[in-house]
Amino acid sequence: ARIRYHKWDVKYELKSPDCYKKLVITINGGSPGPTIFAQQGDTIIVEVTNKLFTDGVTIHWHGIQQFGTPWSDGRGGVTQCPIVPGDTFKYEFKVERAGTYLYHAHYGMQRDAGLYGSIQVSLPDGVSEPFAYDYDRSIILDDWYHKSISEQAVGLSSIPFVWVGEPQSLLIQGKGKFDCSSVPSPAGVCNVSNPECSPYSITVIPGKIYRLRVASLTSLSSLSFQIEGHDMTVVEADGHYVEPFVVKNLFIYSGETYSVLIKADQEPSRNYWMTTNVVSRPPNTTNGLAILNYYPNHPLQSPTTVPPHGPIWNDTAPRFAQSLAIKARQGFILAPPPTSDRVIVFLNTQNLVNGYFHWSVNNVSYTVPDTPFLIALKLKLGHVFDQTPPPNGYDFVNYDIYNVAKNKNGTTSNGIYRLDFKTTVDIILQNANTMTPNNSETHAWHLHGHDFWVLGYGTGKFDMYKDPKNYNLVNPIMKNTVPLHPYGWTALRFKADNPGVWAFHCHIEPHLFTGMGVVFEEGIDKVGDLPSSIMGCGRTRGFGRRP
Ligand code: C2O
Ligand code: CU
Repeated sequence: ARIRYHKWDVKYELKSPDCYKKLVITINGGSPGPTIFAQQGDTIIVEVTNKLFTDGVTIHWHGIQQFGTPWSDGRGGVTQCPIVPGDTFKYEFKVERAGTYLYHAHYGMQRDAGLYGSIQVSLPDGVSEPFAYDYDRSIILDDWYHKSISEQAVGLSSIPFVWVGEPQSLLIQGKGKFDCSSVPSPAGVCNVSNPECSPYSITVIPGKIYRLRVASLTSLSSLSFQIEGHDMTVVEADGHYVEPFVVKNLFIYSGETYSVLIKADQEPSRNYWMTTNVVSRPPNTTNGLAILNYYPNHPLQSPTTVPPHGPIWNDTAPRFAQSLAIKARQGFILAPPPTSDRVIVFLNTQNLVNGYFHWSVNNVSYTVPDTPFLIALKLKLGHVFDQTPPPNGYDFVNYDIYNVAKNKNGTTSNGIYRLDFKTTVDIILQNANTMTPNNSETHAWHLHGHDFWVLGYGTGKFDMYKDPKNYNLVNPIMKNTVPLHPYGWTALRFKADNPGVWAFHCHIEPHLFTGMGVVFEEGIDKVGDLPSSIMGCGRTRGFGRRP
């Protein structure tokens, strides 16, 4: 095993990813940042220098479990103090499983300013994938806003509430195209011929097979991705092999990664469109475009065909169906424990708390204390957060998931769920109507520190007696991020066997920002000595290296 050492400078820079100039957070000058390549078992070291001048920052390694290094998970307020401007912080962790992962800022709404990138972990020497391909490529999909993240954050936490709205464009590997003529803007701000916003292009050699790693780090949008004239065979999801199935369009939710195989077997004298479009919300954003370039055509030669539009936004049935189609690959099945020790139900709700608008679970909206949980618990700093655990479920009998709640009021809490070490925990995500009549949204739930088995998806109210009988205990996929479909439920199982403190939250940034998440603790007494570099804020002031 090797050490992969990286040195990153994180900065604000004026960039035009979709032709519209705004402040973007870059790593070493780029957004997306550099791809981390590693081999299973390697140690990654990233020294991050915060050159944002005015903001703290943390970076999360999305899908990496951080066994033995919970302080490197990068969730500000949960596992570390933010890196203050001018400081350098060293993340160090092992990558224990081959596959496709991500990294992104995890402080405030900084992910949405472009601080993200991809992690690719290859198999150990002598081990090969259970599928064949000639080349490996990757793209990250994103939705893009012209308002600064600070202005979005202030709007979300104000009365009157200012919603972020629909994104201005969709980016494929950091490139999109905003229609500059649609909104008047000062000279030089929007320029469609800026080379920074020329479409992303992937060059393929006719006849070859490509493994395309597709990830989404959208702020809000659920997406569909498609390639004109090419079917995609899904083979990997969040670092686990999938029993292969073929799709024309791939639905992908924020925080998910997939590998698909494509064969460059179409007429080679031209290029083909790759497109992404918004599903599950009434779209108000033009589709994202990129080019599949057949060598030796010019990489930026636009196909003269109409780009594939993708499926209609409000048809949930194919999205449920695709979720259900994702199963563990034969020969690579890790069987889940047959039963669980604890079941926690998370009703996804929108609430008002003192007139402020929040997303919540079980009517409790979560807040982060100024002393990170990991440090508070390990160093027994006493009552720096709410000691009452949040609710284990909701009023199943009386709550009507199909209508706006009679009582919209919720509370805030920074209490956490303490899980008994090495027990098996089931999580039922239950969707419901929002505060808008006849509306239920899609959420994408992501668990830090673990992969979970996806035992099932369903529609309506989850029935604790009937529905577990239909769990897939035979070949459930393991993932770290799953969708919760409108008016539906999603059932997960995981083993609480990773000592540390772990966030579990909706990956939709304005949802998380307004409180849609929880925190789990397990085996805190087994966590090793904390590095002092994670300290310095809240009650740990003076514990760190900072004066
Ligand atoms: Cu990719 Cu806590 O998130
Ligand atoms: Cu959400």
